[in-house]
Amino acid sequence: MSGGVGSSGVDVTRLSKLLAGVLHEVLRHRVSVDVAFKRVCGGWCASGVDERELLYDAARRFVADYVKLLCVSGRRRRPRDLVKLWLSGFEEPSEPHCRLSVPRWLYDRLYALLGDEAARLFEAMGVRVWWLRVNTLKASVESVMRDLEGEGVVFEVSRDYPYMLRVLETPKPVRLLRVVREFKAIPHDIASAVVVEALKPEQGDRILDACAAPGIKTSLMVMLAEGRVKVKAIDISGRRITVMRKLMRKLGVPDEAVEYMVADSRRVELREHYDKALVDAPCSNTGAMAKDPALRVTVTPGKVEYYSRIQREILANIARYASRITYATCSILPEEGEEVVEAMLDRVKLEKPQVRMCGEPYKGYRVSQQACRLYPHVHGSEGFFIANMETG
Ligand SMILES: C[S@@+](CC[C@H](N)C(=O)[O-])C[C@H]1O[C@@H](n2cnc3c(N)ncnc32)[C@H](O)[C@@H]1O
Repeated sequence: MSGGVGSSGVDVTRLSKLLAGVLHEVLRHRVSVDVAFKRVCGGWCASGVDERELLYDAARRFVADYVKLLCVSGRRRRPRDLVKLWLSGFEEPSEPHCRLSVPRWLYDRLYALLGDEAARLFEAMGVRVWWLRVNTLKASVESVMRDLEGEGVVFEVSRDYPYMLRVLETPKPVRLLRVVREFKAIPHDIASAVVVEALKPEQGDRILDACAAPGIKTSLMVMLAEGRVKVKAIDISGRRITVMRKLMRKLGVPDEAVEYMVADSRRVELREHYDKALVDAPCSNTGAMAKDPALRVTVTPGKVEYYSRIQREILANIARYASRITYATCSILPEEGEEVVEAMLDRVKLEKPQVRMCGEPYKGYRVSQQACRLYPHVHGSEGFFIANMETG
């Protein structure tokens, strides 16, 4: 049997109303569970921090089961019917995409690429993995480890990148840990850190970050080069650039290291040439389903096609301004990885990223030997595609 919240002691009427409201918000506005929960929960839904966490966790698990619930619900598909079914428990469906609670087209696509391994990939995305990146601009790895131990956090240090810590057990939500509130450590998936390692920021580099906000990777570039790089950070969203500016200050990124620009990287005209560029392109986010279960509900083939077009346009324009480019997407689909890079092969030369974590891309593409894919079930990370290219 699946579903339910166990013996949580939460009032069932209140819980049902919340879950139905969150799903309604996700379906109607295509937002993340976090955004939907904030909108629906507002000031009314919980009597304290602990209850709020419990309800938040229930909302995540309920939305994650959406496809599964559709498979077993017959014709009763309104959010409140699905809530009733989820709370009362139901038999596990046997069809693979139902059992894994992912849209059929997405499961079929991955099955065609990975065979039985597709199920293991989707199973891994059913569990949220927390990584913390020590922010050495503000604290040493040793002092952050000491603070985490003091707060009762159980973690392990990445063998590949010692500034990355995998949280195994935590007595409180990661965002409430002292080192996180003090910006000495930042929640940062290891695959996303590997993207910056592939870019290899070095002291003195001038770097173009074409899709920069909110700046998690920009701040790692500055951290790895110990503050001695100049980054031009472009993003199409003025609101996100504002958030980024504030975050960079809090993370201790020196003001002079980053220059901000609100622009469309598909057609921005720049006067300077850069040593390196990062294109961390907008994408379907299918690699981040563990972080946001709403992606199981909102992702469509149309969205993938839409992003694939934008990715190609950004990459083609940015290639005019940098000698080396790292292209990355948090997507498990070749339409946003291998195929985007293949379309550039008449203009660029691929160079295999020199990183310690590099899984093989999907077979059958001309770029398969020269790029990296990080897989949730192999690397304990989000799903990412990473390619390095020289523009000559
Ligand atoms: C995957 S997120 C980037 C995350 C960021 N690199 C980080 O590590 O924090 C993609 C970003 O691309 C921006 N974006 C989308 N379309 C764009 C475009 N045409 N030009 C520039 N930025 C764009 C979005 O606003 C979003 O902030």
